[in-house]
Amino acid sequence: MKLAVFASGFGSNFSALLEAEKQKKLSAEIALLICDQPKAKVIERAVNESIPYYCLSPKDFPSKAHFEKQLVQILEEHEIDLIVLAGYMRLIGSTLLEPYRNRIINIHPSLLPAFPGRTSIADAYYANVTESGVTIHYIDEGIDTGPIIYQEVVAKKPDDTLEAFESRIHSVEHAIYPTVLEKIIQEGETNEKTSVN
Ligand code: GAR
Repeated sequence: MKLAVFASGFGSNFSALLEAEKQKKLSAEIALLICDQPKAKVIERAVNESIPYYCLSPKDFPSKAHFEKQLVQILEEHEIDLIVLAGYMRLIGSTLLEPYRNRIINIHPSLLPAFPGRTSIADAYYANVTESGVTIHYIDEGIDTGPIIYQEVVAKKPDDTLEAFESRIHSVEHAIYPTVLEKIIQEGETNEKTSVN
């Protein structure tokens, strides 16, 4: 089972997944990083761990379809089975979605459908919620929509700073993303065996 991680920024979830692979808690190979931001910290992480990476921006292509066609070609060349979004701040279009439907998973730092988008932790914090959380879901055409696989509630304490709340949410992400992915991989393999027998 070969995974490609897509990320746009800091890459703490990418590192958590790599750590899980090293500790054999994730029975898949993180074979590739796809990044759309040349200055993203996540690229340094890939270089340090000798993970091949591609940095491509849609603005260098005539259309989003051309951009995604190039991504599909890279994914096919590397025989990628599953795409794992980890802070990839771009909507997936049909050119990429169709060949990988039900094989693209996202993590989002809120209890979807509440607080979709790029600033969900701050949005929940300033909305004075008493709890928010983390959602892991399959990708569809929408922004942070698609069938939900798993959600975990994270409390917001009355005296939390935004940073403390953010850090609690990230800790939960780093703990649950590898575990949930491992479960999906195991269930997929069981289903494959059942359908062959
Ligand atoms: C994570 O909190 C992830 O859930 C979020 O971006 C952050 C990336 O952090 N994703 C979204 O908001 C998707 N809509 P990281 O680069 O340190 O892994």
